Amino acid sequence: MAVRRQFLGVTGTGTGVGKTVLSALLVRRCVRLGLSVRAFKPLCSGGRGDALALEAALGGSLALDTINPWHFDAPLSPSLAARLERRKVTLGQVVDHLRRYSVAGDLTLVEGAGGLLSPLTADGDNRDLIVRLGALPLIVASNRLGVIHDVRAVLGNLPPRLRDRAPVVLMAPAQADESTAHNARSLGEFLEPDHIVELPRVPEEVRAGAARPSLSLTRSLDRILDLIGPMPS
Ligand SMILES: Nc1ncnc2c1ncn2[C@@H]1O[C@H](COP(=O)(O)OP(=O)(O)OP(=O)(O)O)[C@@H](O)[C@H]1O
Ligand SMILES: [Mg+2]
Repeated sequence: MAVRRQFLGVTGTGTGVGKTVLSALLVRRCVRLGLSVRAFKPLCSGGRGDALALEAALGGSLALDTINPWHFDAPLSPSLAARLERRKVTLGQVVDHLRRYSVAGDLTLVEGAGGLLSPLTADGDNRDLIVRLGALPLIVASNRLGVIHDVRAVLGNLPPRLRDRAPVVLMAPAQADESTAHNARSLGEFLEPDHIVELPRVPEEVRAGAARPSLSLTRSLDRILDLIGPMPS
């Protein structure tokens, strides 16, 4: 039986919620466990920092221009930033690139831009890319007041077959609020509680791979990998 490409669509409730932080941590964990992993940020706008973080996490196994073939100067959605440079990227081009540079059997993380419904290419948004790839969505959200609505809105906008398996990761905010300690339990009333994982604040040295993750962080990352499903070693 042919081994399918396993795409993970790292998306979430918006911009700046921790998609890159989580992606880099998951990649580093896979590398440490000896699992085959690839990661892409196909479209960057306003700097290539996300792609550089993934390149570092991958430890040089993938070239920057392969991780991120399209980048635009303006700190706007990639679709608008591309238009301002009179350039055009289509979903088809992105899907072709990801299929070409991913390997059957490997886990392939694909970080979108912004939230699920943010525009991505000239002809589609992050949801369209996830659907075209048949990717498992990984929903990242900041664990603060309002997150119940935001996560439910994202899940409600996914096709049921993708929604039902999607892990939801609540990232600890810089400043916890009164809801932070309760949100995972409250969300568990609306979706499979086992699909919800909380991630603590992660020090810069750990994110950069200069220090080892704590045991509790490692456990959380392994739970997310379990939810993603089996991978070849
Ligand atoms: N768990 C965490 N521990 C420490 N810092 C975090 C954590 N989650 C998010 N951050 C901080 O929030 C900032 C934004 O996170 P990140 O860049 O991962 O967001 P993003 O969702 O990838 O944003 P974008 O939409 O721009 O791609 C990071 O620079 C980091 O400082
Ligand atoms: Mg990012």
